[in-house]
Amino acid sequence: MKFETIVMEINENIMIVTINRPKMLNALNSKIAEETIYALQEADKNDNIGCMIITGSEKAFAAGADIKEMREHSFAEMYQLNWFAEWDQISQIRKPIIAAVSGYALGGGCEIALMCDIIIASKTAVFGQPEISLGIMPGIGGSQRLTRIIGKSKAMEMCLTGRLMDAEEAEKAGLVARIVSNEILMEEAKNTAKKIASFSKPAVQMLKESINRSYETSLSEGIRFERRLFHAMFSTIDQKEGMLAFVEKREANFTDK
Ligand code: CAA
Repeated sequence: MKFETIVMEINENIMIVTINRPKMLNALNSKIAEETIYALQEADKNDNIGCMIITGSEKAFAAGADIKEMREHSFAEMYQLNWFAEWDQISQIRKPIIAAVSGYALGGGCEIALMCDIIIASKTAVFGQPEISLGIMPGIGGSQRLTRIIGKSKAMEMCLTGRLMDAEEAEKAGLVARIVSNEILMEEAKNTAKKIASFSKPAVQMLKESINRSYETSLSEGIRFERRLFHAMFSTIDQKEGMLAFVEKREANFTDK
């Protein structure tokens, strides 16, 4: 696919999607959805890729869904087109995805970051669900994922007032893994992605699946699920290699087998 709204880059064993609609502050239209999801799915299938990054510009990760694209639609059109449903495919990606966020991550932009597995933010990152000021509400999972991550009171306040949250508050609230300066945001995201990509891919994917399971199930079922995956890992060559390398005091050489 020839990309028009994103830049896709493969850097050693990681893949980077840069949303590239700067004049519109990376407002998310259908083309961005199509291209981003295609790039992520291709990387998910690519045996050489171990981790992915989604990023935007310094001013905007993404300032929300494209208001101009959807504003004239009727209920029937939104319903029949199942507007935004395609974005759910991000949550089916099995390899980890890092959101490297600088500037505005609003509405759909915040929701895409929430769908990623790790958010690394620059000091200028701003998160928010301002849909209420447009007479609507979040539509790509914001009211659900934000609530699970930062708790009901903060999520209610942000969604009901449209208040924006800066990087520092987002880190305190558990939304963001780490804050770094703008200059080193991508370097940090790439280092984190490469670290993850250096490990056994089946182990990384099982671990991602297990952590995500904690959102979907009870604690006892989640622990059972985790233990079964943990047991299953003892069927991999990478488990034997990882433990042997520890005993032999050397770096493990994982083969994803
Ligand atoms: N949709 C469409 N266009 C957008 C946009 C969006 N979400 N965000 C910014 N733009 C456009 C602006 O219209 C403007 O275009 P023109 O130059 O053609 O006028 C351009 O991007 C630059 O934006 P501003 O001039 O507004 O830049 P600013 O620095 O003054 O303000 C901002 C930045 C505070 C982020 C402001 O642009 C803004 O409030 N944007 C909308 C934020 C928003 O409401 N997001 C939620 C969208 S709905 C949604 O996301 C639903 C969902 O759940 C998925």
